[in-house]
Amino acid sequence: MRIGNVSIAHPITLAPMEEHTNYPFRLLCKQLGASLVCGERVDGSDVAKRDRRALKLLHTTPTEKPAVGQISGNDPHVMAEAAKVVAEQGFSIVDLNFECPIRRLIGRGEGGALMADPPAIARLVEAVVKAVDIPVTIKIRSGPDAERETAVEIARLAEQAGASAVDVHARSVAQSYVGGPDWTVVARVKQAVKIPVLGSGGVREAVDAIRFLKETGADGVAIGRGCLGNPWIFQQARSLILGGAAIAPPNNGERARVLLQLVEGEFDFYGSHLAAKRLPRVACYFAKFLPDFASFRDGVQGVKTVHEFKRLVREHFH
Ligand SMILES: Cc1cc2nc3c(=O)[nH]c(=O)nc-3n(C[C@H](O)[C@H](O)[C@H](O)COP(=O)(O)O)c2cc1C
Repeated sequence: MRIGNVSIAHPITLAPMEEHTNYPFRLLCKQLGASLVCGERVDGSDVAKRDRRALKLLHTTPTEKPAVGQISGNDPHVMAEAAKVVAEQGFSIVDLNFECPIRRLIGRGEGGALMADPPAIARLVEAVVKAVDIPVTIKIRSGPDAERETAVEIARLAEQAGASAVDVHARSVAQSYVGGPDWTVVARVKQAVKIPVLGSGGVREAVDAIRFLKETGADGVAIGRGCLGNPWIFQQARSLILGGAAIAPPNNGERARVLLQLVEGEFDFYGSHLAAKRLPRVACYFAKFLPDFASFRDGVQGVKTVHEFKRLVREHFH
């Protein structure tokens, strides 16, 4: 697949997830086989102002290329400025978020609120396409709610306005993250446009990713919650899609190695104070399968250093 001038090696990609798809996590997914990785949504107005926290969230290096930086907002001028910053940071692609269901954003008429206003999305895409040289993509949902499906209309308008790909989360904004996705909307969008179509929703195992691509005809699948604690899903799905053999789940040693790499990456990236605060949640995703998970979960509370964490992992993963 090619998104504008960016070539993507295969269809198995990482979906953006707030609080999860930070730089260390994206590197891991890349190493374990994701072809394209996307950073979490950042407020376009903060990015345009070059707010320090926003720039931190938009950290990237050539190692993770091709990578996507995602912004949200509803002012074409501000979004154009923010997209320039995303390009300057070194991202290969800038993605515009029209899917986020959180109340704060909806209240401001941003994110998922724009699924009810296709012409506004077209204006935003046009302004951003004019402002940057890198490809511009959009992330949408099926529509504002079950009654209104606007995805096809928005995809067509965005294509006309110069978008290089569209990524459909196969749920409505009203559904938030609850309830089954409806993959048929992705198939309808794929039929309606010539630009590449990616999609997400409900992919939990490698075989789901293959089924998603087959049933929707999409050019790519973006894996969301299915990779939390299980980044091996990328190599498993990649192998299946490229016609290789099924790859067995990792053993405890491999799980421990990857978890430690992520945690060390987080301590480097966030500093020890914030990384230690995040640690129980990050680590528990990887430890869920342990027979003594409850004792791991208790043990990780209060861990302050990588050294202490290594000891805990040694005790539980071997
Ligand atoms: C915790 C969480 C945070 C998310 N944050 C973002 C985000 O920042 N930007 C975005 O476009 N989508 C975001 N999503 C949606 C995912 O990219 C993806 O479309 C969705 O999770 C797919 O559904 P699945 O998790 O059932 O596979 C988020 C999803 C979750 C679960």
